[in-house]
Amino acid sequence: MIIDFHSHLLPGIDDGAVDLTVTKGIIDKQLSDGVDTIVATPHYYCEQQSIDDFIVNRDNAYNKVVDYYSETNLLMPKIILGAEVYYSHYLNSVTDLRKLCIQGTDYLMLELPYKEITPAIIDGALNLADANGVNLIIAHIERYLRFTSYKSLLPLLQNGVLGQINCSSIIDSGSTRRKTFKFIKDGYVHILGSDVHNTSSRPAYMGEAIKVLSKKFSPSFTAGIMNNANDVLHNLDIDDIY
Ligand SMILES: [Fe+2]
Repeated sequence: MIIDFHSHLLPGIDDGAVDLTVTKGIIDKQLSDGVDTIVATPHYYCEQQSIDDFIVNRDNAYNKVVDYYSETNLLMPKIILGAEVYYSHYLNSVTDLRKLCIQGTDYLMLELPYKEITPAIIDGALNLADANGVNLIIAHIERYLRFTSYKSLLPLLQNGVLGQINCSSIIDSGSTRRKTFKFIKDGYVHILGSDVHNTSSRPAYMGEAIKVLSKKFSPSFTAGIMNNANDVLHNLDIDDIY
């Protein structure tokens, strides 16, 4: 079972797939990589949209995909609905945040601001989790290192918050990969996602990333990271894969 836990494949809803043609291109690549389940995580910005409007748009986009695949009789992977929720302190005053959890779970994917991660942001995020009774998954933990220190993220990752990494960061051959591997070696990576946006500049690299992980880390880690995604989708606690 291969689960892509982070994607922008729903058509016309955010800066991901602009239309169904791109969605189909993304799905073609995912299927060829053996991906059978994709978590759709369109961006959510609380200062721009109500949660209910977001959900209506997301469901409409999802239904377009379902209709297309049922009309064409093509194989469609399982798509689970979720969101990539951008953290701002306003989020702490938003009610019904649980509606943005990954479908059927208490897990919420949070995108941190692209700036120095201060103790105030850490406290705000942890309070958000407590107040709403959700488990946080931090989206692509390696991407913030251009703006903040490794150390600044640790109070989240050492407090039961799960870390997701992007496939593109693993197949990168430069410093991004080194930094991503440090998160893995230190035990802070739990979930893998493509963060696919299209078929050109930000494609899905699940197959390529799994190959790299299998080569560089123990087979139990690679199997464990896939198993974690399955556990989260079943609203279970993840196993210790380190
Ligand atoms: Fe994303």
